[in-house]
Amino acid sequence: MEHSIALVTGATSGLGQAAARLLAGEGWREIIVTGRNLARAKEAAAQLAAENKKVIFTPLALDLDKSSSVQSALAEIVKRGQPIDFLLLNAGLVPFKQRVLTVVGVESSQAPLIGHHQLTVGLLNANLLSLNARIVIAGAEPARGGVPMFKYTDLPAFAAKNHHGDRTAAVEALIRNGPNVKYVPNNAYADAKLIIAWWTAALARRLPSGMAVYAVSPGGATGTRVVRSAGPLLRYLFIPIVNLIPGMNQTPETAARRYLQASEFGTDVSGQFFASAQGKFSGPIELQRQPHLHDRASQEAAWQAVVNVSGADLSAAPSLSAVS
Ligand SMILES: NC(=O)c1ccc[n+]([C@@H]2O[C@H](COP(=O)([O-])OP(=O)(O)OC[C@H]3O[C@@H](n4cnc5c(N)ncnc54)[C@H](OP(=O)(O)O)[C@@H]3O)[C@@H](O)[C@H]2O)c1
Repeated sequence: MEHSIALVTGATSGLGQAAARLLAGEGWREIIVTGRNLARAKEAAAQLAAENKKVIFTPLALDLDKSSSVQSALAEIVKRGQPIDFLLLNAGLVPFKQRVLTVVGVESSQAPLIGHHQLTVGLLNANLLSLNARIVIAGAEPARGGVPMFKYTDLPAFAAKNHHGDRTAAVEALIRNGPNVKYVPNNAYADAKLIIAWWTAALARRLPSGMAVYAVSPGGATGTRVVRSAGPLLRYLFIPIVNLIPGMNQTPETAARRYLQASEFGTDVSGQFFASAQGKFSGPIELQRQPHLHDRASQEAAWQAVVNVSGADLSAAPSLSAVS
């Protein structure tokens, strides 16, 4: 991959900002940094430029909750006309104690995937990803299970019980947190990150041959603002306890480095989910092999549900014939 132009979403704090800093250190020519509005993106770009003493950060407004904002961001990139080599879809959040929906009825922790999908599909349709581009999207360990207090939904069972076995309808219900979905914030987060892992696998099957996409958990980095909206149990009990266990937490820079590491992976592992070893939130990343992550029917259902909710699809997909 050429180290030319990178785009990092959610670069106004935490891992997105750390990743932008690391990319600058690795000699990237230009790093587009996004924030929910232009003022916040400009602030982040200015801070990064001051720290790095390099004027290579371009601010871009991108609110992933709003389709109109994604379309405006796409229009800006189209106007520039320069393809992106590394698309880092980092923005995300642990959801609120009370359920929050966007104006189009998407649960808040699911919303970044909808916006990221609109952005990615828009860039692919406009030929604005370079031929060997790398796409990395932020995942998290709860998607594979085994994380206390976080439980993902058993999709086949949920679909069978509530949607006559239709997994696409079932994923749509999870994205909208209803009908028949009880709102439990940590479980909503686990589902959001699981749907991301499935979406990644489905996208990989649709990418032109030189490109690759990976879901990557940055691992535990509680020094960021990620749980600012979460309930007290998570903030004041789970995280402080986890932080007492050696090796369960890491600096934002160490966590963000995982994204960069994955961006150097080959097309042979495109579509895979990489995260910490079982029982850990730090250390080396490993390809995740849990069977539910590799369930093709769930992956395709997740893709179709995201297409339905976002209203965005690939206009010409060279490898689509390989999908059916
Ligand atoms: N830190 C961890 O321990 C950890 C562990 C596993 C996975 N992750 C994942 O890593 C990613 C980065 O998290 P972080 O720890 O760096 O948290 P953070 O400090 O809260 O940063 C998140 C960034 O995403 C942006 N964002 C969130 N929702 C958005 C939306 N709908 N539209 C536009 N921007 C949005 C935030 O902007 P605003 O400030 O405007 O909301 C912020 O810039 C997330 O996807 C998170 O799920 C983090």
